[in-house]
Amino acid sequence: MLQKFDDRNKSIQVFIKDRLYSREEAKVSVFDSSVQGGDAVWEGLRVYAEGVVCLDRHLVRLLESAKTLAFTDIPTKEFIKEAIRRTLTANNMETDTHIRLTLTRGEKITSGMDPRLNQNGSCLIVLAEWKPLVYDNTSGIKVLSVSQRRNAPQFLDSKIHHNNLLNNILAKIQANVAGKDAGLMLDERGFVAELNGSNLFMVKDEKIFTPFAHACLPGITRHTVFELCKANGIETQEADLTLSQFYNADGVFATGTMGELTPVVEIDGRTIARENAMLNRVLQLFKDNIRNYCEPV
Ligand SMILES: Cc1ncc(COP(=O)(O)O)c(C=O)c1O
Repeated sequence: MLQKFDDRNKSIQVFIKDRLYSREEAKVSVFDSSVQGGDAVWEGLRVYAEGVVCLDRHLVRLLESAKTLAFTDIPTKEFIKEAIRRTLTANNMETDTHIRLTLTRGEKITSGMDPRLNQNGSCLIVLAEWKPLVYDNTSGIKVLSVSQRRNAPQFLDSKIHHNNLLNNILAKIQANVAGKDAGLMLDERGFVAELNGSNLFMVKDEKIFTPFAHACLPGITRHTVFELCKANGIETQEADLTLSQFYNADGVFATGTMGELTPVVEIDGRTIARENAMLNRVLQLFKDNIRNYCEPV
């Protein structure tokens, strides 16, 4: 599904490092680490009138990713919250909003890979856009398993939410070429990892399964699904799952902040049932409860 330009985003204000800029002026230096090496970490946040969904969890993941990458001058949660608050207020945004929150290692004194060249502190970017849910959560999406493998810890730990997204982008290109909505990525052993931009779950015999988070992002929406299922007596299990198990599931869905819960109705040309009582129950539970996960900024 290709997102379209939303006219409301023509004149948005963007927070960079320490202040707001108009969309035209919102730029980082050519010496910024994100330009030089994808050397940045990020979060996608969804905003409702009640606040930002799971804000604290997102901030923890951002700060932990930055610590793993040995960023210096990491901003505090309070600084980031204030930057988000200022950005949302400046744009009059209360709902239908998605924030791309990025922390780069900052500007280098000269081009090069070495983090010691970063002597200007890290750079926080709060890009808030009008963006309702991006996938068709009623009819569902079609996906294709691709040759590009998802990173496992011996290559680049998928628990770091970094901007080095090329393996996922290559997966998305393969799906695009085949006319499908997303690329399904396997881990290096051939087990299902996740879609190129969201986590995957399957329903089998009234139970909910999802891959271990060894080679997928431990998604925050994924975590919310676990919590909602537990609170409602629905059994969940993390497991090594094969494509064959997914082809023969009673229902499949993807999870992520950008699209929330999205049914998957086709994998590699095999039809996956859209109508399944347990699938619909989980989708409905999420819809009914997501606003309880909002935290005011
Ligand atoms: C590769 C990948 N998987 C899964 C997700 C979903 O994570 P979350 O539920 O935390 O938004 C994302 C979102 O950024 C992602 O980039």
